[in-house]
Amino acid sequence: MNTIAFAGSNSSTSINKQLVTYAVQLYGNAQILDFNDYNIPTYDIDIEKKEGFSIDVNKFYSAIQDSSILLISFSEHNASITAVFKSYMDWCSRINPKFMTDKKIFAMSTSPGGYGGRNALEAGIKLVEKFGGTVLEEFALPKFNENFKEGKITDETLDQELKTKMNSFQEKVLK
Ligand SMILES: Cc1cc2nc3c(=O)[nH]c(=O)nc-3n(C[C@H](O)[C@H](O)[C@H](O)COP(=O)(O)O)c2cc1C
Repeated sequence: MNTIAFAGSNSSTSINKQLVTYAVQLYGNAQILDFNDYNIPTYDIDIEKKEGFSIDVNKFYSAIQDSSILLISFSEHNASITAVFKSYMDWCSRINPKFMTDKKIFAMSTSPGGYGGRNALEAGIKLVEKFGGTVLEEFALPKFNENFKEGKITDETLDQELKTKMNSFQEKVLK
């Protein structure tokens, strides 16, 4: 089954990309996408009318279409998902409003705060479910700077929580 992973961020040092990269190691293997590899403007209906869907919108949309499993870590800005993630989703939804149908998703988030980006996680889950995706597991890592070092979760309880959820995700995916 083709698996892709990405963070909802265009930060070159994204902590959510670091978390999702660790989750990929636990999962086994996945293609990790980076929003910085796409040149996609903020969704704009005038651009869509004038220029249609750009090569990079199609490239991102196709990466999702060609996968059956998605590991996503939602970055939090002002108690919600980032503008860049919303914009990518808006573009894809204009090609097909149900573009995540049959996709099985592990939804994650992290932030420097104690809530671990849970507002973004909740908003992100609502959005991907709107597009037809099925969220099978979710995980929020609080206080990233304290609990994550050198590519790994350092807090044993949180690390175990992610590992248990990843095992459960893999079992559900294989059903
Ligand atoms: C504009 C802005 C708003 C933010 N709002 C929140 C917030 O509401 N809650 C939170 O926990 N962190 C917030 N943060 C901190 C981000 O979660 C932090 O910058 C994190 O590194 C973003 O994820 P990323 O590194 O994956 O892009 C905010 C950061 C920015 C720049």
